[in-house]
Amino acid sequence: MRSDIRFGILGTGGIATKMSEALPLVEGATMYAVASRSQQQADAFAVRHGFEKAYGSYEALINDPHVDVVYIATPHNLHFSNTMMCIDAGKHVLCEKPFAVNAREVHQMIDRARDKGVFLMEAMWSRFLPHIIHAHEIVQSGQLGDIRLLVADFCIHRPMTNPKDRKFNPELIGGALMDIGIYPMFLAEFMLGSPLDQVAMAGLGVTGVDMNCSAVFQYPGQAQAVLYSSFLAESGTRAAIYGEKGTLLFDDFWFMPGNLRFVDAQGKETSIPFEKIGNGYQYEAAEVVRCIRTGLQQSEFMSWADSIRLIERLDAIRHQCGIVFPGHD
Ligand SMILES: NC(=O)c1ccc[n+]([C@@H]2O[C@H](COP(=O)([O-])OP(=O)(O)OC[C@H]3O[C@@H](n4cnc5c(N)ncnc54)[C@H](OP(=O)(O)O)[C@@H]3O)[C@@H](O)[C@H]2O)c1
Repeated sequence: MRSDIRFGILGTGGIATKMSEALPLVEGATMYAVASRSQQQADAFAVRHGFEKAYGSYEALINDPHVDVVYIATPHNLHFSNTMMCIDAGKHVLCEKPFAVNAREVHQMIDRARDKGVFLMEAMWSRFLPHIIHAHEIVQSGQLGDIRLLVADFCIHRPMTNPKDRKFNPELIGGALMDIGIYPMFLAEFMLGSPLDQVAMAGLGVTGVDMNCSAVFQYPGQAQAVLYSSFLAESGTRAAIYGEKGTLLFDDFWFMPGNLRFVDAQGKETSIPFEKIGNGYQYEAAEVVRCIRTGLQQSEFMSWADSIRLIERLDAIRHQCGIVFPGHD
């Protein structure tokens, strides 16, 4: 009988909680260990979610020989150092988005994973959601004809009550683009590939991070993607892909599990429903288990090349908008 893949989680915040709720749905995964900067916090989290081990430092979890894969659920500034530490300890890694602060760091992470023979993947969970995969199949099939326009946003009103919060703190690599704007950028890259050209603009807040960031991508054949993100406004977080033969509409909060609708050129609408199972994070975790079991170092669905393309896009947008992270740029 094959033994389960034992997961360890770094961090006990919002996304660590979501993953802990999802892991019981993943066949072949065991919720083994959690680590926090505080032992008390780790203990409480472990009891709440049923982890076997609770560590009061990230190093302690990484040095546990029973941990197979580490899920990095820490702020953006730590992704690179946490990942490198895990790889050096021979652990497989699933690291939250954005993979690191810039392409230089991402290349180093990938090179190190390649050298050490471990699995490494960016936790772009939307890539593994059934409706996103199906939308990609529809685009690829030609059902929409030539794509003319993709519109996607991620806007959540987040008043800056605490400037030290990871979303607003430049030391933790906050800002709308890195936190939420990455999702529309991902959708455009996944559905349409890399653009020929782009323009981007951002509004910086008092802490120096971008409070909103928008971009227009231009593709061969005159297709465009219009992408925007904001902490200053609440939107439906909508996405749509317009083609010459029809339109594909995503449910609001398109990056989460949801449904699709196809509207043909005559305006006839067809629903494409998807069964909702769990919170959706189980799909990326299942991919981690599959890849590790098959001895893959990267997933072909969220590959190292995909992560490089995405971070290069973010680098280019940041450059255009003047979003700078001292110490990283
Ligand atoms: N995939 C998704 O849907 C999704 C959703 C939300 C966030 N994310 C990503 O997940 C990562 C974490 O986001 P989150 O929303 O879970 O953040 P969060 O709630 O603030 O949790 C981050 C955790 O990181 C640890 N940490 C280590 N150093 C820290 C520091 N200096 N300041 C604050 N926390 C620190 C803390 O755990 P300990 O105190 O226990 O060490 C904290 O609980 C980010 O990369 C974010 O972009 C992804």
